[in-house]
Amino acid sequence: MAGEGTLQAVILAGGQGTRLRPLTLERAKPVVPLLNRPFLAYQLALLRSHGVSDVVLACSYRVDDVRAALGDAEHLGVRLRYVVEREPLGTGGGVRNASDLVSGTLFVMNGDILTDADLSAMRRLHEARASRTTIFLQPVPDPRQYGLVETDESGRLHGFREKPTADEEIGTNTINAGIYLIDGPLLGRIPREQASSIEREFFPALIADGIPCFGWCPTAYWRDIGTLSAYRAVQLDLLHGRVRMPLAPLGERVAGSWIAGGGAVAAEAQIVAPSVVGAGVALGPRCRVGPGAVVGDGSTIGPDARVEGAILWERVEVGAGAVLQDCVIGADVKIGAHARVGPEVVLESGAVVPERATLTR
Ligand code: GTP
Repeated sequence: MAGEGTLQAVILAGGQGTRLRPLTLERAKPVVPLLNRPFLAYQLALLRSHGVSDVVLACSYRVDDVRAALGDAEHLGVRLRYVVEREPLGTGGGVRNASDLVSGTLFVMNGDILTDADLSAMRRLHEARASRTTIFLQPVPDPRQYGLVETDESGRLHGFREKPTADEEIGTNTINAGIYLIDGPLLGRIPREQASSIEREFFPALIADGIPCFGWCPTAYWRDIGTLSAYRAVQLDLLHGRVRMPLAPLGERVAGSWIAGGGAVAAEAQIVAPSVVGAGVALGPRCRVGPGAVVGDGSTIGPDARVEGAILWERVEVGAGAVLQDCVIGADVKIGAHARVGPEVVLESGAVVPERATLTR
């Protein structure tokens, strides 16, 4: 239980992240690196900047990854605790499992949303409307692939629609953005130790029972990082300053890039902004990194190699003259000399690309 005045949050971090495979076969989605920091570090920093200092992570899959990446998160200014499901309990059961550690009004978030929304404004709306559950709503151009949320003119929720068919009339373009403010006692309605869905079961039941629930639709950056293309795109958005995060990349800001140092940069190597170069990276003669490149800690970029719009995890070895363009490369991958890796290619950790090979999607 938190002390009075302490705001709390539960982050759902137990999904298997199937859409992000093969990356999530090797690392849990909540801690895949974004600009060389574990994803949840951004969510924790956002929560911290809105007064949340006590966070419970509802975990199930690859919990050790999450602990290794975040520990108790003291360095991020929050107290972080873990609750682990024996079997995956879904988004409903996962929150219920964490509910003994929280009280009062709390944030509940999917552990795969990058946003810079003003969560303090969300709280103000929750209080002003005497809402008992407030859902962050996001307008999207084509909402058909998502679950839709319908509100009346006052913003009160009156319905959820799961993925409507093509010719069905849809009166809304707002979707559930995966961030909620919930009155803690309501969580007692979710069955314990039983898999359930917060979106498909808990929220519709609240509405059916006439409990006041409201939507909140801010103007803010919002993106689910859970697909391979989104995973790369959000990092470009961060690099280009399209998201206003309270957490900058690690390292020193040099001519529009961030360089963590501790490595060796050959005199003729070029870092083109905006890019992020991790700790202990070796950049060989005449190589060109960027724009839009993220190079993980301990990686080596060979002479004359080019890395552009590409995300490299830790300890990647790029051979002489190799070209990496708009791709994602897992940890410990070895790219042979003069190989080419093209747009949208994703290489799982430990992969080996032979010399002069060309990989396209
Ligand atoms: P996909 O398999 O790619 O759809 O990803 P996912 O497994 O993460 O599922 P989804 O994106 O629908 O999950 C939304 C959020 O709920 C994510 O933050 C997940 O980590 C989380 N989540 C999904 N299932 C569970 C679960 O069984 N337990 C817990 N604690 N969290 C879950």
